[in-house]
Amino acid sequence: MSNRTFTMIKPDAVANGHAGKILDHIIQAGFSVVALKYTRLTAEQAGAFYAVHKERPFYGELVNFMTSGPIYAAILEKDNAVADFRNVIGATNPEQAAEGTIRRLYAKSIDANAIHGSDSDENAEIEGRFFFSAFERF
Ligand code: RTP
Ligand code: MG
Repeated sequence: MSNRTFTMIKPDAVANGHAGKILDHIIQAGFSVVALKYTRLTAEQAGAFYAVHKERPFYGELVNFMTSGPIYAAILEKDNAVADFRNVIGATNPEQAAEGTIRRLYAKSIDANAIHGSDSDENAEIEGRFFFSAFERF
């Protein structure tokens, strides 16, 4: 699955009407959208998705934020997808994100940071399976 990554357009970006522009940015950057879903996370789902952070001080805020409104979840395909997509989204804190990155363009804060990108091939597969059955994935 090294040519695939997983993304979520987070509740702030959907609420602010940026989802279409962000999807276009992703496509123009050379990624194919091979699965796409509009949904809203329950607290249980958000807690499980970000379980790796459960001992961190921001975990409660993160779960609250990620359940605050609908999201788009997607599986993306491109050579070197995980690393290339992290470059496209930019640093976690939008103030530190490079010019032209999705977080620099659309994120307001480290909490409301517009978009998620998997951090490894292994997590891309786990996260994709979290939202999509094998039947839905091309
Ligand atoms: P993501 O998983 O959402 O793509 O974000 P990331 O890899 O860039 O950052 P990560 O370390 O995985 O953290 C997940 C989300 O938790 C929030 N966070 N807040 N206050 C803080 O120091 C802090 N650190 C992380 C961010 O919203 C981040 O996207
Ligand atoms: Mg992360």
